[in-house]
Amino acid sequence: MRILITGANGQVGMALRRTLTNPSFECRFTDREELDMRDEEAVRETTLSFRPDVVVNCAAYTAVDKAEDDTQACVEINQDAVRVLAEACSSINARFIHISTDYVYHNKVNRPLREDDPTDPQSVYARTKLAGEKEALSACAKTTILRTSWVFGLEGANFVRTMVRLGGDRDQLSVVADQIGAPTYADDIAGAILHIIESPELKPGTYNYAGLGIASWYDFAKAIMEIYGLSCEVKPIPTTSYPTPAARPHYSVLDLTKAQNAGFTFRHWRDALVDFKASDATS
Ligand SMILES: NC(=O)c1ccc[n+]([C@@H]2O[C@H](COP(=O)([O-])OP(=O)(O)OC[C@H]3O[C@@H](n4cnc5c(N)ncnc54)[C@H](OP(=O)(O)O)[C@@H]3O)[C@@H](O)[C@H]2O)c1
Repeated sequence: MRILITGANGQVGMALRRTLTNPSFECRFTDREELDMRDEEAVRETTLSFRPDVVVNCAAYTAVDKAEDDTQACVEINQDAVRVLAEACSSINARFIHISTDYVYHNKVNRPLREDDPTDPQSVYARTKLAGEKEALSACAKTTILRTSWVFGLEGANFVRTMVRLGGDRDQLSVVADQIGAPTYADDIAGAILHIIESPELKPGTYNYAGLGIASWYDFAKAIMEIYGLSCEVKPIPTTSYPTPAARPHYSVLDLTKAQNAGFTFRHWRDALVDFKASDATS
């Protein structure tokens, strides 16, 4: 089976490099240098010449706050490039696996969010991610989308890395306690993508995928300090005390029932964090 992976130097892309080890897979991992997703012709040409059975799109514009002032680039990568890739998949009958975000929901429902709940993205990043989902689903009938949340991976910058660094330098940190969601380990997302690849009978469409359990950023920070043995005290603050250019949802816990029924496996975010620490070469 031939598999094309874009954005392969990101958190999920790097986790896929560790996960897609089945010798029957012929994987082509592309980064920005080899395949710039803003180059539509290159995206088409690379896909058509490699003729993959599956394409996994890990490339994305993920700088949520910067996107507020960099709309054009965000649209080109999160929306336009997704359409081109999905069209190319469709033309060679390949399956298309795409990753999206809990930020597309951003609604006022105070219960875990289901795939068919209304969307109401509140930032440039979230709007382009939702638009990308729609492009993918309409361009390629064999599209599977994973909506995930609060990704932490061994490579790249993320909340865990920031907390470990600050926790080593400071005695006290203030962290937002009124945004609730679920941290998700990039290696677990890679496992979910492997499940899609190995399940040709899986119904295409949109699936939520996240770590089990819920947390605020404050809860997550406290767990990071504890698991890394850092004595830094974490204090809860409201979002209003930590304003950011892009709005974040207050509640974005994902209902995982659809994915559970489709054979995806999950673990609690805290167990994944313990595993992250054990695999973390810097700790
Ligand atoms: N991070 C989160 O908390 C989070 C939460 C929910 C959903 N998601 C979604 O999960 C997916 C994977 O996220 P991630 O955390 O792995 O993101 P990431 O670490 O930022 O990786 C994204 C990758 O895309 C690449 N990329 C950006 N623009 C590109 C372009 N023009 N051409 C080719 N590659 C390009 C980046 O390359 P450079 O390094 O060269 O920029 C980077 O390697 C994304 O779809 C994201 O929207 C992420």
